[in-house]
Amino acid sequence: MSKKYMIKTWGCQMNEHDSEKIAGVARSLGYQATNEEKEADLLVFNTCCVREHAEVKVYGNLGRLRPLKEKNPDMIIAVCGCMTQQREVAEHIARRYPFVDIVFGTNKIHKLAEMIANARIAGNTVLDIEEDDGGKIVEGIPVEREDGIRAWVAVMHGCDNFCSYCIVPFVRGREKSRRKADILNEVEELGKKGYKEVTLLGQNVNSYGKDLPGEVDFAALLREVDRVEGIERIRFVTSHPKDLSEELIYAIRDCEKVCEHVHLPVQAGSNRVLDRMNRKYTRERYLDLVDRIKNVIPGVSITTDIIVGFPGETEEDFEQTLDLVKAVRFDSAFTFLYSQRKGTPAERMKDQIPYEIKHPRFLKLLELTQQITAENNLLLKDSVEEVLVEGISKNDPERLTGRTRTNKLVHFKGAPELTGKLVKVKITDPQKWSLYGEMVDREVEN
Ligand code: SAH
Ligand code: SF4
Ligand code: F3S
Repeated sequence: MSKKYMIKTWGCQMNEHDSEKIAGVARSLGYQATNEEKEADLLVFNTCCVREHAEVKVYGNLGRLRPLKEKNPDMIIAVCGCMTQQREVAEHIARRYPFVDIVFGTNKIHKLAEMIANARIAGNTVLDIEEDDGGKIVEGIPVEREDGIRAWVAVMHGCDNFCSYCIVPFVRGREKSRRKADILNEVEELGKKGYKEVTLLGQNVNSYGKDLPGEVDFAALLREVDRVEGIERIRFVTSHPKDLSEELIYAIRDCEKVCEHVHLPVQAGSNRVLDRMNRKYTRERYLDLVDRIKNVIPGVSITTDIIVGFPGETEEDFEQTLDLVKAVRFDSAFTFLYSQRKGTPAERMKDQIPYEIKHPRFLKLLELTQQITAENNLLLKDSVEEVLVEGISKNDPERLTGRTRTNKLVHFKGAPELTGKLVKVKITDPQKWSLYGEMVDREVEN
């Protein structure tokens, strides 16, 4: 009987993509996937620490594993990802959960076989979190993607921005871009395998290439990816407003495959808060950027991330966030309660906001953003949208599900064979979370 692996992932798309690499390596070692923890010979927790809540969930799940390991002592339990990049957390896990065999960092995925072998010999938790080779990007790790239509492709790793609330630069290290040739090779391979959509990933894709003298910038990279055969759609996340260039706006407009969607986290609407967050732009510059994007790219969708209750946020500051949201009218917004992260500059700011004050603000913002999302969706009634079909709808076996170029979910009736195809759908019933429609045409033979 073959050995089995299972990976549980928390966090962002970059972490999801790392899990695809862990799966790729596990497969190359002869493991098969399972969805049952108790069947797994290799169980990996790929963790996130961007907010306290994410860490709490991981600890809750770790506690449950003891009886599993007691029943099956040969099972290898590994914990990796952003949480374990903090040395004190890695050591705490090894102490508090001694049944964990391996704790490894985000740059160690390629060493899985070696770590498993070491853990078998060591008999105690093996820790491998230090950067090797100056944190150089390791190419050629096999990737086991779940989906056959849409794929994530990392274009850079790490972050240099040090927004004062954020732990990511501390756990993911300095910004490093992948070489253009490596990225293009990967996308070309995906095109050949029949993938239709790629999402280029990075904490701040707009600064792609700055660390590679003589190579291209992100706008030029998009133009090259746009030429890859077979790929129909290109998305990218995340764009930091301070680095979004004029050339990039034109590249999005010009490139046929690049979708008209910019995820542009604003974080706050008040200049005082933005400054204390170390975001390096003002409210006015952000609004001006949004205007320029909307003017150049017809039908563009703009989405965002917003933090509520950053230290020192006054009622007046918060009102400015609401006001900015009303001005931009984001198609969707991820809203977060500020969470104090160890080692970040904001952790040490004196004027932390109590939950009783920030939570009602959070609810107010959530209501406003959701109302605007619904109103924007209503504007799409009777429009005809290009939809990439993802498969049968999870909630209704009669319908198919896909996304518009602007990343909105659409449900409509159609044959399951249309999965992976681009179709045209007339929106008949726009709702808050998704759009319902009727297929009017098969757009392309693909
Ligand atoms: N690099 C991306 C994503 C970073 S994490 C970017 O800059 O946009 C995703 C989101 O989590 C951030 O945009 C921010 O809104 C939120 N976030 C990060 N740290 C946080 C914290 N300490 N508390 C609450 N939200 C946080
Ligand atoms: Fe965090 Fe800011 Fe970097 Fe995004 S840009 S990962 S919010 S430090
Ligand atoms: Fe979380 Fe790490 Fe992503 S902290 S949000 S998994 S980069």
